[in-house]
Amino acid sequence: MKQNAHLVCINPKCGKKFEIKSTLILCDKCEFLLDVEYEKSPPTKLKDVFYQRRNPQGSIYNESGVWRFRELLNFAEIETEALEECSKHLVSLDGAEGRQSKPYQMSKVSNFVGVDNDNLLLQPEGYNPSGSFKDNGMASAVTHAKMVGAKKIICASTGNTSASAGMFAANENMECDVYIPDGQIAPGKLSQAYQFGTQMIKVKGNFDDAFTKSLDAAKDAKSYTVNSVNPFRIEGQKTIPYRALEFLDWDVPDWIVYPGGALGNISSCGKSLIELQKWGWIKKIPRIAVINAEGADTLYQLYNGKFNNENLRWNNGSPNLDLIEKYYEHMNKHDLGPKTKATAIQIGKPANIVKGLRALEFTNGCVIEVSDKEMLDGMSIVGLNGFDCEMASGATVAGIKKLLDDETMKKDDKIIGILTGRQKEPLLSIDYHNDSTNKFAIPPRT
Ligand code: F0G
Repeated sequence: MKQNAHLVCINPKCGKKFEIKSTLILCDKCEFLLDVEYEKSPPTKLKDVFYQRRNPQGSIYNESGVWRFRELLNFAEIETEALEECSKHLVSLDGAEGRQSKPYQMSKVSNFVGVDNDNLLLQPEGYNPSGSFKDNGMASAVTHAKMVGAKKIICASTGNTSASAGMFAANENMECDVYIPDGQIAPGKLSQAYQFGTQMIKVKGNFDDAFTKSLDAAKDAKSYTVNSVNPFRIEGQKTIPYRALEFLDWDVPDWIVYPGGALGNISSCGKSLIELQKWGWIKKIPRIAVINAEGADTLYQLYNGKFNNENLRWNNGSPNLDLIEKYYEHMNKHDLGPKTKATAIQIGKPANIVKGLRALEFTNGCVIEVSDKEMLDGMSIVGLNGFDCEMASGATVAGIKKLLDDETMKKDDKIIGILTGRQKEPLLSIDYHNDSTNKFAIPPRT
């Protein structure tokens, strides 16, 4: 199926369109973020095609958990059944991105959070080739980078983005510069980025400072930003909910739960649901729950009216941007962090906040926060089920428990939780289990 696509400003009062080969991140008229928009509605009979592609019949684009759904993210405007065209345009790690990730029941987690095993499914995105959900969006972003002839990709990262970008760049023989907050990255992620040959640029400060520096650097004509403010990253990450929905025969769950950092993931989940509803693929809309770390909880503060007594909302495309700026000033003035051991989500200024608000509005979402200790328990109980996840992903489990405890979630709700990355900071698990006061610790014997 061929497709025509363009970029469009997400501000409903603006709606300016840009050609698909534009590398703008923000609208040049009103500075809102951009969306990829497709001109044709993909027909629902594609559900069968996606299912059949699980038998890949020799094609890595069917094997790929991202490109298997290529009709729903066909910004390359290709004939999707023509494999030669796919191989000319679509960037893939030999079909491995998204291939291993699908929802699983984890009985010990269900037991811990207090629901029937059938009602909770967890999707380990850490089983991507670079070890996090980022590979879903990097496959699509690097596809677009190649469409526009970029030679170098650039990102700021709390670790996983740099590992994923480095892996794709090395495979595609591109350069890759990564801006990292010095001393605040899990060693496992740092070593991946070095190993894949990225040029590391250490920034004094936190992720937010590194991100600002990386955007400045990407103004160079041959460079290309692969952070999740890039609308093409969002396209690939839509396949995370697609895989969950397909697993449920497109029978929509009640909740989809994510840890919140820069809010690219919930933005892509929101966009996927907005489109699926518009295209007539789904009727019911699941609620998105975002779980912030207590020490990096900008969205929690603003969404729940903890700052200036105002609940920040999408507000039909006119969110109170001044409130966000005021909060950032307040954060700087009072030196409020971000600070959490879950370094992946140690982010104070979520770059996708406006798209995130749109996702929350569309899905009647909610935002809560959990402590470092709760995240570590969440991470550890996932481990006891034989699945690997990192501390930030533990937020998903901790958040689900909290939302069930306070009855925001009902016991018979169907819940999908996204486990965003695998363990790349081994000392966290070692320290956890060596401290017998921890809930799930199994201390070593001598
Ligand atoms: N979980 C993990 C494991 C992450 O690495 C990230 C973000 C998130 C959750 C948050 O996702 O930003 O879409 O809300 N890591 C980025 C990075 C920022 O640079 O690797 P988000």
